[in-house]
Amino acid sequence: MSAQTSSPAGAFRTAVVPAAGLGTRFLPTTKAVPKELLPVVDTPGIELVAAEAAEAGAQRLLIVTSPGKDSVAAYFRHDDELVETLEARGKEELAQRVRRAPDLLAVESVYQYEPKGLGHAVAQAGPVLGDDEEAVAVLLPDDLVFPTGVLTRMAQVRAEHGGSVLCAFDVPPEQVSSYGVFDVSDTDDDDVKWVHGMVEKPPADQAPSSYAAAGRYLLDRAIFGALERITPGAGGELQLTDAVAVLIDEGHPVHVVVHRGGRHDLGNPAGYVRAYVDHMLGHPEYGESLRGWLNDRLKE
Ligand code: G1P
Repeated sequence: MSAQTSSPAGAFRTAVVPAAGLGTRFLPTTKAVPKELLPVVDTPGIELVAAEAAEAGAQRLLIVTSPGKDSVAAYFRHDDELVETLEARGKEELAQRVRRAPDLLAVESVYQYEPKGLGHAVAQAGPVLGDDEEAVAVLLPDDLVFPTGVLTRMAQVRAEHGGSVLCAFDVPPEQVSSYGVFDVSDTDDDDVKWVHGMVEKPPADQAPSSYAAAGRYLLDRAIFGALERITPGAGGELQLTDAVAVLIDEGHPVHVVVHRGGRHDLGNPAGYVRAYVDHMLGHPEYGESLRGWLNDRLKE
């Protein structure tokens, strides 16, 4: 590692957020508003993901976006006029909330011009990485993983074992076919598994385990070479899962941290509503009244 990287082994500077999709499950809204900017109460989902990356030490958020979705990166720009207006009106707390996203970390974007899959999206980040960046984090903005902290744990595991570290959830067998699924064996740590293989969206009866990829990846930069060697896989797309499988086949160490907390899937209306309600119930101003209303509503 070069002298520029003063962070501990296993750490990373750039967090890649693939956000080029059409948001088909939220049409017609996503004709005009990118899915990543839909609010969870009052904060866009992508800000929650950016905050998680910053908390784990990321200094740069690299948004992989598509032409027409520039508002996603624009959301992270400073708006001094708005902040000054709010301050002049005595709304200091609101001004702070408006300042939070641009203050979290540096935000840049790259385009994915064709929707060729998650692997293809992540590959767009390769040319933008600094020569000294040995690893890169990838956070899928559809996935809210909570409590936060799993990325920090993943960096510790990379420092210990090297290679790449992903986040896994133990999912019910009937759900495995929606995910990338790991073939694992135990280590001394119950929450860390050694990965021997990974397969994208296998039929339930062919899944190697019930440990599914949960949208958080800490990838050795060798992934960019692997991404050049894959061919279209599940759904005819270039899959990140297949590039991880290539790394494993070529002898790179890959581990998962099993996350025992919660997860919301912001990528479809049913998961989005759960995330929204969950955040709302914990909100100091709105939580109690929503709880009361929900209780009454459910009795009807
Ligand atoms: C993607 C990944 C999959 C992963 C999932 C997590 O699938 O390809 O391996 O398990 O995210 O949310 P998608 O949900 O985009 O189809």
